[in-house]
Amino acid sequence: MEFSIKSTAPGQTKSGCAVVGVFESRKLTQAASAIDRDARGYVRNIVERGDMDGKLGATLVLHSVPNVACERVMLVGLGPDSGFGDRQYREAVAASIRTLNSTGASDASLHLTEIGSVKRDVKWRVSNAVAVAGETVYRFDQMKSKPDATRPALRRLALGVGAKSAERRGTAGLEEGLAISHGVSLAKDLGNLPANVCTPSYLAEQARELAKRYRMKVTVLEREDMEKLGMGALLAVAQGSAQPPKLIVLEYRAGPKTQKPVALVGKGITFDTGGISIKPAPEMDEMKFDMCGAASVLGTLKAVGEMRLPLNVVGLIPTTENMPGGRAVKPGDIVTTMSGQTVEILNTDAEGRLILCDALTYAGRYEPSVVIDMATLTGACVIALGHVASGLYANDDALAKEILAAADAAYDRAWHMPLWDDYQEQLKSNFADFANIGGRPAGSVTAACFLARFTKKYRWAHLDIAGTAWRHGKDKGASGRPVPLLTQFLLARAGRK
Ligand code: BES
Ligand code: MN
Ligand code: ZN
Repeated sequence: MEFSIKSTAPGQTKSGCAVVGVFESRKLTQAASAIDRDARGYVRNIVERGDMDGKLGATLVLHSVPNVACERVMLVGLGPDSGFGDRQYREAVAASIRTLNSTGASDASLHLTEIGSVKRDVKWRVSNAVAVAGETVYRFDQMKSKPDATRPALRRLALGVGAKSAERRGTAGLEEGLAISHGVSLAKDLGNLPANVCTPSYLAEQARELAKRYRMKVTVLEREDMEKLGMGALLAVAQGSAQPPKLIVLEYRAGPKTQKPVALVGKGITFDTGGISIKPAPEMDEMKFDMCGAASVLGTLKAVGEMRLPLNVVGLIPTTENMPGGRAVKPGDIVTTMSGQTVEILNTDAEGRLILCDALTYAGRYEPSVVIDMATLTGACVIALGHVASGLYANDDALAKEILAAADAAYDRAWHMPLWDDYQEQLKSNFADFANIGGRPAGSVTAACFLARFTKKYRWAHLDIAGTAWRHGKDKGASGRPVPLLTQFLLARAGRK
């Protein structure tokens, strides 16, 4: 879809449809009032008759509205107007896009971007509208023999900013929203691809393409390199698979030479069978999404590259399958990690932390200012936070705060979880330095505690995205999260307001 910024009044320029909002109180937004004035009370009349009740997400398409230049006018319900908030705004935009796609309009102008709210300015409104629109029209039909019949019809969307003076901020929002949307789409595509296509080698290939397109440096460590580095934990997970493991490193350096990079580390299990501690059959197909952390690193780097943010960012992706087999690692096996610490692998299904721990040790070589890892790490996190918030852990409170602020601005929710040493006891092993599992209680916390033993040398945060990286059921598919959060974090670091 093509986007543009528009500051003229709604209804005065030709378009397939002008989209304006109505609150539950029957109050018209400024843009809706402007159309109503041109049309001499036409809109007001419809609202008073009760055909549009202003309930959040309700839509009504009007044809041949008198005295306006657009072919259609769409009224969108906004819900309550007191405390009009982010979720309401985004839902109203999503509903507009969905309905626009069911009309014959190939272009439209959206005026919800003009609605003032307590907390957000025009730049936020535009960038979020673009991101939501991208989200709503996303389709994954690469693997179908014929393209999807339900392809969206809407091709051009103008976003209203109300006044000429708001165009500059609007344009900045447009650029950011587009970059986020492209990063999210890449992360979704990689997540949605089946594991027979999206292998560790495929991810390495994708990284090489990103590097070429956005002037990044790419390094791919092979099994022999990992052996030399002593990455015993990553290698143990990989040993059961016929696919060669990779440790992908992407370096984006557009910041000052002396600026220490932000390191993003993503779990890249391209399929998680559980290994010898094999998973039950139902829904095992969803374990193709176990590389969504890796996908979010690539998606975020794409967004950063597209915006040419003046920053240094290093992406690290340990990637392998987790398979059972004659060579597979067994419960009770003890491995030596790159850090020198030994781990008793009591459950081969707790493999994410094993590949991450060696990548986290390796990340230290880049002298990072901060390290953030993203991982579909534990079913326990899904039980704790559901599919709404990612679990956030950090060994530094200021970093946690910075990430929460980004999560809020990007509407990509995260919740701060505890990382107290009290939980470390659960990882005790009789035979090695510690075990890779901590039992059922607080499973997401003990997984984070495991990682914390490898991140003592730098400021670090961990996002458990097991509940947020993909959707289940009839909407099954990758969500692209936490690309919006990470991109927002980096935008803030680059000083973008
Ligand atoms: N990839 C899974 C976590 C997961 C499970 C994410 C279900 C989303 C939905 C991870 O590798 C895993 O298997 N974790 C185990 C850890 C346990 C053995 C300590 C889990 O959560 O059951
Ligand atoms: Mn697992
Ligand atoms: Zn896993």
